[in-house]
Amino acid sequence: MIRYIQKIALKAGAILKNIINKFHCGNSIEFMSKMPSECVDLILTSPPYDNLRDYQGYNFDFEKMANEIFRVIKKGGVIVWVVGDKINKGNRSLTSFKQALYFQSLGLNAHDIMIYAKKNTPFMRSNAYTNAYEYMFIFSKGSPKTFNPLKEPTARSGFEMLTTNKKSDGINKKVLGQLNTEKTKTNIWSYAVGLGGSTTDKIAFKHPAVFPENLAKDHILSWSNELDLVLDPMCGSGTTCKMAYLLNRNFIGVDVSKEYIEISKERLSKYANLFGEVINA
Ligand SMILES: C[S@@+](CC[C@H](N)C(=O)[O-])C[C@H]1O[C@@H](n2cnc3c(N)ncnc32)[C@H](O)[C@@H]1O
Repeated sequence: MIRYIQKIALKAGAILKNIINKFHCGNSIEFMSKMPSECVDLILTSPPYDNLRDYQGYNFDFEKMANEIFRVIKKGGVIVWVVGDKINKGNRSLTSFKQALYFQSLGLNAHDIMIYAKKNTPFMRSNAYTNAYEYMFIFSKGSPKTFNPLKEPTARSGFEMLTTNKKSDGINKKVLGQLNTEKTKTNIWSYAVGLGGSTTDKIAFKHPAVFPENLAKDHILSWSNELDLVLDPMCGSGTTCKMAYLLNRNFIGVDVSKEYIEISKERLSKYANLFGEVINA
C-alpha cells in the first residue's frame, strides 16, 4: 500500500501526500477548500437527510459543500450521492431532487439515478407502501473516465428462447442455443442492511446511518481503478474509506464528528496495521 501512496503523491503533490489515506475531523467544506482543484477520481458519500438524525447538532450547508465537491473532482471523475428524503406528515421533502438539480446547475452531468433497494426495512407507513429504497445519484464532470461495469448472470442462463409460446414470466423454455451467460447489471442494486447486512463491524453501528460495505465496494469498482483517489467528505463510520483501502484505492475520509472519526479509524485499524501504516487524524 505504501507504494500506492508514493505514486499518487508524485501525481498530486505535497498537499495530497499529507492528507491521503487518513481520516480527518472537521468541516469538509473548509477541508476541501484547501485541497487542489480537480484532484479526486471518485467521491462516494451520503449527506445528512434533512434533519432526520441529529449529527451532534451540526448544521449542514449543502450548496457550499456541493461547490467544493465540484471543484475538487477531476474532469471525468464521478460523484455518487446516496440520499433519501424525510417524510413529514405524509409529505416527502424532495430534498434529494433539489440537491440533484443544484449539482446539475453547477455543470455536472446527471449520469444516472440509481436505486439503493433495501432487502429488509422496518419503516412501515399506514397509508403508503413501505419505503424500501434510497437514491444513488451519479454525477460526472464530463463523461465518466472510468466505467468497469459489474455483471450478473442472464435470466436464461445463457440460452436463447423462442419468441413464441412464452410463459407468463416472458420466458420461453425451449432452448435454441447458447448466448452470453452474464450481462451488465441494472441500475437497481439491492442490499441487506443492519448488522451482518451492511457490515459485520459492530462498532460501526455507534453511527446512526451506516450504508452497506457492498454498496461502497460496487461503486468503487465501477467508477475507479486501483491507485485512484476516493474521497468521502462525510465519511461517518468510514465505510467508503474501508472499502477503498481494501480495493487498493487511496482514500480521504472527513467527518465533522470526532466520535465518528474514531469509529472510522477503529474499523480500518485492523487492516491498516497489516501494512504497518499509521492512520492519523
Ligand atoms: C449519512 S452520514 C454518513 C454515513 C456513512 N456513509 C457511513 O457508512 O457510515 C452523514 C455524515 O455527515 C457528517 N457531516 C455532516 N455535515 C458535515 C460537514 N460539513 N463536514 C463533515 N462531515 C459532515 C455527519 O457527521 C455524518 O456522520
